[in-house]
Amino acid sequence: MAQIQAIKGFADRFPDESLVFELMEDTARKIFPLYGFGELRTPIMEYTDLFCRGIGTETDVVQKEMYSIPDSKGRSMSLRPEATAGVMRAYIENGVHARESVSKFFTIGPMFRHERPQKGRLRQFHQINCECLGPKEPEADAEVICMMMEFLGKLGLKDLTLQINSLGCPQCRPKYRETLHGWLAGLEAGMLCEDCARRMTTNPLRVLDCKVPTCKALTENAPRILDNVCSDCAEHFSTVLHLLDSEHIPYQINHRLVRGLDYYTRTTWEVVSNSIGAQGSVAGGGRYDGLVAQLGGPEVPGIGFACGMERLALLMTGNAIPEKRPDFYLAVLDESCKDAAFSLAQTLRRAGFAGLFGYESKSMKATMRQAGKSNARYTFILGPDELASGQVIIKNMGTGEQRAIPTSEAAACLGAGE
Ligand code: HAM
Repeated sequence: MAQIQAIKGFADRFPDESLVFELMEDTARKIFPLYGFGELRTPIMEYTDLFCRGIGTETDVVQKEMYSIPDSKGRSMSLRPEATAGVMRAYIENGVHARESVSKFFTIGPMFRHERPQKGRLRQFHQINCECLGPKEPEADAEVICMMMEFLGKLGLKDLTLQINSLGCPQCRPKYRETLHGWLAGLEAGMLCEDCARRMTTNPLRVLDCKVPTCKALTENAPRILDNVCSDCAEHFSTVLHLLDSEHIPYQINHRLVRGLDYYTRTTWEVVSNSIGAQGSVAGGGRYDGLVAQLGGPEVPGIGFACGMERLALLMTGNAIPEKRPDFYLAVLDESCKDAAFSLAQTLRRAGFAGLFGYESKSMKATMRQAGKSNARYTFILGPDELASGQVIIKNMGTGEQRAIPTSEAAACLGAGE
């Protein structure tokens, strides 16, 4: 019969790889609460309208990357392409703003975008996402960035570049858009790529982000947003940079950084690595002061970021991931010993030791081969002689030493690291 394969861009993750993901999740769950963040788990599917209104109808994500299906009444639902919109929906729908003036949430889980799969780019990928709602002050921006950098540092990741920019606010950005549009319109006709020719009117800032070399070269001297933001935005940005300086967090100002989602205002950033190929952006985020109101909630500013777990995992290969070895392997030499062995394995697990049960009763040689393969620290061997005398053999797999002990002392021996 023909085999059924996984969907393109959707990956399996076996236990070895899962360990890396577990380490990231554990680290997030340790670091983020130090800053007041708690975990919020939102559904992986939402009404499509939420993403259209939240992320923006002109974005690639909404225009071509969502997995959408109609519900029984014909209303479109989509697998979440990112976490922010869902977190905002939950925040508004549950009236969280009425209970607390500052809310901080992190969310870990799968996201779905129908992009062309390649190294570091999947159709189902995973994010560690943080959102801080309430404060408009630049200290919140700096705090969130510091937390993100601490998280990445704790994972042992180095050689990352924090790129940062300000996208202004509804007061100053429209003017800059006009200025940029005018400047782009002055370029020789037909020089920009097809996408940019269209974006020039729909969203001229996205032209700055184009990866096509000719577009990049053409826009080298385009007016810069930081030269065009209002004084409030300029002051906000300069305080953020000052706080990053005081915490010795290096950054590069990237005038072309505009991000692919429409909700951003003021501070925006990406963390980029040069060592994982074309998909080098491992984290991205920014302020989104108008998003809650745009989704029908009150005027509450917000800021957040998301890290791509598959991309972090690519960077972490080679780093020391704590090895998870079983404490024991329980080898059974004869069918008649199985009940006692089963009960011993259960006793040891209840005492907190991880172990494997040798299901098949085999010859000593075969059973020791199995035990060796399991990579356990100790092997217990139970045969009819030991069973009769209330004993079990313990073998230290590191030193090769072995001796008989009373079964009742098995847990103590493992605990003593004997
Ligand atoms: P984003 O830049 O679209 O931002 O995604 C954040 C990160 O998710 C990227 O830097 C990348 O590491 C990872 N990522 C995105 N697409 C893929 C993919 N197809 N395959 C693998 N990894 C991917 C957001 O999603 C915003 N919601 C972040 C945010 C939170 N802004 C404010 N709050």
